[in-house]
Amino acid sequence: MSDRETWTSRVGFILAAVGSAVGLGNIWSFPFQTASNGGAAFLVVYLCAVFLLGFPVMLGEFVIGRRSERNAVEAFRSLGFGEWSVVGGLAVVSSFVTLAFYSVVGGWVLSYIVGSVTGGYLGDAGAYFGAVSAGPIAVGAHAAFMALTIGIVALGVTDGIERATKLMVPAIFVLMGGLAVWVSTFEGAAAGYAYYLSPDVGVIADNIAGIVPPAVGQAFFTLSLGFGVMIAYSSYLGRDDSLPADGSAIVVVNTLVALIAGFVVFPVLFAIEGSVPDSGGAGTAFTALAGAFSQIPGGQLIGLGFFVVLLFAALSSSISLLEVPTAFVADRTGYDRTATAVGLGAFVALAGVPTALDTGILGWYNDIVFELLLPLAVLSLSLFVGWVADDQLAVELNLGSSFGSGFSTVWLWWIRIVIPVAIGGTLLLGIQSLLVKAGILAAPIVLG
Ligand code: PHE
Repeated sequence: MSDRETWTSRVGFILAAVGSAVGLGNIWSFPFQTASNGGAAFLVVYLCAVFLLGFPVMLGEFVIGRRSERNAVEAFRSLGFGEWSVVGGLAVVSSFVTLAFYSVVGGWVLSYIVGSVTGGYLGDAGAYFGAVSAGPIAVGAHAAFMALTIGIVALGVTDGIERATKLMVPAIFVLMGGLAVWVSTFEGAAAGYAYYLSPDVGVIADNIAGIVPPAVGQAFFTLSLGFGVMIAYSSYLGRDDSLPADGSAIVVVNTLVALIAGFVVFPVLFAIEGSVPDSGGAGTAFTALAGAFSQIPGGQLIGLGFFVVLLFAALSSSISLLEVPTAFVADRTGYDRTATAVGLGAFVALAGVPTALDTGILGWYNDIVFELLLPLAVLSLSLFVGWVADDQLAVELNLGSSFGSGFSTVWLWWIRIVIPVAIGGTLLLGIQSLLVKAGILAAPIVLG
């Protein structure tokens, strides 16, 4: 495939991957999941999951992508294991379902940018959320967000994705860093830091089943793993790049953004509300923060900065979600990329409409991704890399890497044993939780 695009530079690849990883997951859901799952206790489990489970799986996606130079589905066939293409197919389905509701939340962010300019949410934060989160406004904003996503993907890998992320990722850092410094001057900020940063081991021990699966799910989601994104992005990569070094950079930067988001959110919540909201529901982040912004001097400006960051983060992730099916269809059929991105994007936008009409349906899309599709995809990916693919993948990991072959040996065994056990357990708990929510199981059987 000589006409296939490649990243113009290593930094371009890292920024695009960081752009995919840094998203609503880091800034919107991470601080609020942390808040409602015991604060620092959740943080500790989450960090372990990111480094011990997420990082090795990311390298797994990288070797598949770079070795095959194909999109997530065709990669398996090109490596000689056509029957495993179904794993790539699962990844494509997961990106579709995720993008369908992710873009609805992206639309909420657009409405909150408007609200920061007009002051719309200043009076009654709850009412504003009610008005923009479900119904015609939500559908319109969702369509607008999808149009932005489609526009960038249609421009292509280097002109669209690489250029957009080169602008957005540094902007996210500067704006978030500035906000974190500003809110540190608030009275009451210290109580926020204390809740965020002092782990209570008792909390973890008491509620393993409640903390571990969401922390593991969040770790994979935030690193964009299990969706074929990292397979697709690394397929545009050269052989002289060090995958472990690039992977470490991506994981560290992504984690930093989530941590900084906590340094913005916790001081704001404690300074204004005096505590954290106890439910981490979809709307909490928006209502709690908008409520807080409306009481801070200059809050409208902080709000604007915050929601603009959130928009950049969401867009640089949604483009990666659309890139997966676009790369698949365009590689496979030879159709023009622009037409493919528009056609598929329109289809995803339609699939998202129900979630823009009803936040309950949005919750279901979210749960199906987190509790079923994502762990299933990661489990099958790691079984493939560890047990099915031959040595070519471990060899691929060493190309361009200065980490040594000892590293790839440990990595391979880690993928063979530790990851499947950890993800298999998470998947079982996830399925159980879905069955309980659907009313098929009356109560949890394991670790209830
Ligand atoms: N990692 C993104 C986030 O944290 C979401 C995402 C998941 C993007 C999977 C692409 C693929 O918001």
